[in-house]
Amino acid sequence: MTAGGDASPQLTFTNHLGPDDVALALRADVASGLAAEPKRIPPKWFYDETGSELFDKITRLDEYYPTEAERSALQANADEIVALSGADTVLELGSGSSDKTRTLLDSFAKAGRLRGYVPFDVSGSALRAAAVELVRRYPSMRLDAVVGDFDRHLHLLPTTGRRLLAFLGGTIGNYEHGARSRLLRSIADTLRSGETFLLGTDLVKDADRLVSAYDDSAGVTAAFNKNVLAVVNRELRADFDLDSFDHVARWNADEEWIEMWLRSTAQQVVTVADLDLAVRFAEGEEMLTEISAKFRREGVESELAAVGLELIGWWTDPDGDYAISLSRKP
Ligand code: SAH
Ligand code: TRP
Repeated sequence: MTAGGDASPQLTFTNHLGPDDVALALRADVASGLAAEPKRIPPKWFYDETGSELFDKITRLDEYYPTEAERSALQANADEIVALSGADTVLELGSGSSDKTRTLLDSFAKAGRLRGYVPFDVSGSALRAAAVELVRRYPSMRLDAVVGDFDRHLHLLPTTGRRLLAFLGGTIGNYEHGARSRLLRSIADTLRSGETFLLGTDLVKDADRLVSAYDDSAGVTAAFNKNVLAVVNRELRADFDLDSFDHVARWNADEEWIEMWLRSTAQQVVTVADLDLAVRFAEGEEMLTEISAKFRREGVESELAAVGLELIGWWTDPDGDYAISLSRKP
């Protein structure tokens, strides 16, 4: 869909995810995840319309410090990031509401270098909501919104301009080691020489603060975690009873990541009609839904170096809770 009929529209939407595509990928993920030990459901399925709204609520919780920490690190350093990047176009993976990104876009606009913004997300509803506000705020910027999966569609991103690729929100932490280095490698492959990568990473800290960020007292994170079951119910005609699973958030000190689990409160059998599957859960059995890895500077720097990216900037919020790094493809 394109808004405006002229030759060079300000706003375009491209969708790389057909409905069948989504259904097929979800089927494959759920089939293998429910057969695994322990059982697991991969996190990209959290973000249907309800999930994206619940995530937005999480970002406004007092306990969930990463959003405000990232915002403050961005605000204090956006001008320097703009200058160091030399970019005129911002591509953003997992852009969601694009809320914090505006800080960055404002600095690009102020420097007279805001040519285009490409928000890229698996959630079409989040993208559409964000786009309406963005075109109003930046009337002379091109906005090319892309619905897709950054595990599969990075090579389809627009190549116009000198690009800064942003990946904020700590979403990189939702990948385990192997998948993370594959994603970083494909990000590095996407960039051309001289282009830059802006990465947001939550840092290792006190376990109590970490756990309460992922197990808030109002139960929003619990609702978000359980929403993945509602997605599977709807999309694959399953019959998960959301009330017979409890949300569990646990710090894994060896791996330095938070784990999110759903614990079955009873022995039960769940059927997934579209997969012809009946799955048994023992009382107390836990299913892994998400990890959120926490980082240290040395680790980030060496993971970037491993895919050929050179660290050229590192900034944290004043409390040192969260880091933004800028790296460049030589
Ligand atoms: N950047 C925002 C949102 C972070 S939440 C912030 O910092 O607040 C993670 C976002 O990534 C969600 O909007 C989700 O829909 C998107 N996402 C998760 N997995 C994805 C994938 N594989 N491909 C594309 N988008 C994905
Ligand atoms: N990228 C976010 C993070 O790791 C996603 C997130 C926040 C999340 N809270 C969550 C994912 C709860 C699953 C469950 O912080």
